[in-house]
Amino acid sequence: MKNKGAKFSFLGALLFFFTIATAVSVSILVFVRVREQTDNIGVIAVVVLLVVLFFSVLYTLIDVLRRTLMVDKPAEEILRATERIARGDFSVRLAPSNRLADYDAYDRIKENVNIMAAELGKTEMLGNDFIANFSHEIKTPLAVIRNYAAALQSDTLDEATRKEYLRTLLTATDRLSALVTNVLRLNKLENRKILPQNQSFRLDEQLAETALLFENLMEKKRITLSCELAELTVFSAPELLEIVWNNLLSNAVKFTNEGGRVGVTLRADGKNAVVTVWDDGCGIAPETGARLFDKFYQGDTSHASEGNGLGLALVKKIIDMLGGEITVSSKPSEGSAFTIVLKSVVTEESRA
Ligand SMILES: Nc1ncnc2c1ncn2[C@@H]1O[C@H](COP(=O)(O)OP(=O)(O)O)[C@@H](O)[C@H]1O
Ligand SMILES: [Mg+2]
Repeated sequence: MKNKGAKFSFLGALLFFFTIATAVSVSILVFVRVREQTDNIGVIAVVVLLVVLFFSVLYTLIDVLRRTLMVDKPAEEILRATERIARGDFSVRLAPSNRLADYDAYDRIKENVNIMAAELGKTEMLGNDFIANFSHEIKTPLAVIRNYAAALQSDTLDEATRKEYLRTLLTATDRLSALVTNVLRLNKLENRKILPQNQSFRLDEQLAETALLFENLMEKKRITLSCELAELTVFSAPELLEIVWNNLLSNAVKFTNEGGRVGVTLRADGKNAVVTVWDDGCGIAPETGARLFDKFYQGDTSHASEGNGLGLALVKKIIDMLGGEITVSSKPSEGSAFTIVLKSVVTEESRA
């Protein structure tokens, strides 16, 4: 990090010197040889021109190749990274092309981009929007806690009411604690404090287990669950993916009416694992678009009493980190489907 400036490429200069020297020497030799054979100045000129042309084309090709590998490729990588940073994704980190001792100017630019992204990531959580949204999200459960705690002080409450108030208090504290957990998780992901711990595991089993956690909730809403899971062993980060399935399923159940349907499918597409979590619930208005994945974004305010709008922001962060893709297809009042493609993770496929 502390080496000053890009290193002067001695090898590059030497190569340049030798190519020019070879081209000139060969041209002179050819000229002398042709002179011995003929006095026709036209023939001599054409032969020497051809030799010079040959070398020009050869060196141009070599230079184009060198440029593509040494200039265009890192420049393209840096361009992509700065585009992501401009879009507010501060999780980008670029890998240098050379070992530390051989860093070129591009490696040093990449390193600076990494430092910049990390610094921006640190302050992201302190943005004005974030503080405003976060405060708003804390305020509601805090007000509930305050009011119900005050009401509980009354001596005239009967046992049933007292129990009901306590339940409300518990729900409010659960909400606060979920909010704090999510904010901490997001913060850690953004600052790369949580890194994927990859291991081999059965993705279909993980999906089935996560879906089972919602059994009671679904029973209460008389929702039917359908699972179509291919038996796949994948190499990925189970702890992070669990957060993803949890959030997608919790949304599916939350935004589906009584008596509705929720489903999970898993299939292999070559080495990719494709997971879809779908429901036939209220759906998402098309104008919502990518805002779905923004922190604190909640589409339908009628559901705002549950959740804090951080779920899909977390999901997106994790999928980006794992190099996957997430897409949504939805029609208002017909349902939604969230599809996640995890790239090159399938290590074993056993068809039932
Ligand atoms: N399965 C779904 N069906 C309909 N709308 C959804 C679904 N999943 C997410 N949404 C919309 O996206 C918004 C953001 O989701 P999320 O980040 O999980 O926040 P939360 O669940 O806390 O509201 C939701 O408020 C909702 O408007
Ligand atoms: Mg949610």
